Amino acid sequence: MISKAMAQRLNGQVNKEFYSAYFYMSMSAHSESENLKGIAAWFMAKYDEEMAHAMKIYRYLHDQGARVELDAVDKPPTTFAGVLDMFEKTLDHEREVTASFNELVDAALDERDHATNIFLQWFVTEQIEEEATVSDIIGRVKLVGERGEGLFMIDNELAGVAKQMSTTAAAQA
Ligand code: FEO
Repeated sequence: MISKAMAQRLNGQVNKEFYSAYFYMSMSAHSESENLKGIAAWFMAKYDEEMAHAMKIYRYLHDQGARVELDAVDKPPTTFAGVLDMFEKTLDHEREVTASFNELVDAALDERDHATNIFLQWFVTEQIEEEATVSDIIGRVKLVGERGEGLFMIDNELAGVAKQMSTTAAAQA
């Protein structure tokens, strides 16, 4: 059993993960409409990951005897200046998520809630990988540019990465 305050914080994080999913689906929709199928697939794989994150916390709350309270999910941005803009927004967003998990860990440590602290470690590690992956993509987009062959190459590459992400997610489910 966890404290009411900790449960409320984790409920807030469930909402943030749903927002992340929604945010990435919006970028997938935008990419799809721009004929960037690989980038669209990558953002849709991110959508799946974020839904899985939300459900991981959802299950933890139930396992700890807490009540899950769902909240409204904010509207994500729907227009983007280009591919670089989407990945830069993704990195900014993931940095905010990292800060949010750090605050959750602080709260768990303050309460000496060891179970929640241990539970949160998976997310802390995941955030390092997520930020690194997106930084890497930003670097590549800057290198090859946002049009023509360079963009075609990035789109193809991310199509392959999206397939791997889906395979990994299916194996972890
Ligand atoms: Fe749920 Fe992208 O971290």
